[in-house]
Amino acid sequence: MDVIATTARFIEDKFASEGSGHDWAHIRRVWLMARRLAAAHPEADSTVTELAALLHDIADWKFHGGDYEAGPRAARAWLLSQQVPEATIARVETVIREVSFKGLGVATPVSSIEAALVQDADRLDAIGAIGIARAFAYGGHAGRPLHDPAIAPVAHDSFASYQKNTAPTLNHFYEKLFHLKDRLNTDGARVIARERHAFMEAYVARFLAEWDGED
Ligand code: ADP
Ligand code: NI
Repeated sequence: MDVIATTARFIEDKFASEGSGHDWAHIRRVWLMARRLAAAHPEADSTVTELAALLHDIADWKFHGGDYEAGPRAARAWLLSQQVPEATIARVETVIREVSFKGLGVATPVSSIEAALVQDADRLDAIGAIGIARAFAYGGHAGRPLHDPAIAPVAHDSFASYQKNTAPTLNHFYEKLFHLKDRLNTDGARVIARERHAFMEAYVARFLAEWDGED
């Protein structure tokens, strides 16, 4: 088996029963979407793109005491165990470091086409019907209320304040999800985002109408 297939099996085993929205199904979708977006970008190194997509959530800071290096470190350990060349490992680590959203007021530039593809694929999985489900799954996992009209959304201008956030889940739509369509790197992702974004807007409008008993 090649290293991509072996890595997919390793991550599938590790994340089979994850319940906060970072499950194997999410990682698999990001992997497939990154490959789909890569079709329009033959300049991307497919090994780096696919390994980074598969390993991008291997040790998320949210579940590792806010340690932002836990992900790149765990990815490196795995790839070393598979005799992957150092140059490839270093490129995968950089993609993993760059992929995450860090707050509305925080820029998240990418330094390679491979990072652009994986970041877009991860962001597309945070919007639309799946994105809505993942937001409420994460909110439930973290013990957050669905909504509280008295708590206004915040445009976090530092990663630290975004990390500390404990607001109701509906605020997450205003603090992140509604902005993702304007924070994509590739034209292919922007096209896919349009419908997912519109669906999410319609969903939240209806949620708010039902919340007030108007619908
Ligand atoms: P990224 O992939 O950009 O790092 P995260 O790992 O932060 O994204 O988020 C994973 C999933 O959990 C996404 O669908 C995201 O929208 C959701 N999520 C993250 N933080 C919150 C939150 N505070 N409330 C609700 N959902 C959240
Ligand atoms: Ni992810």
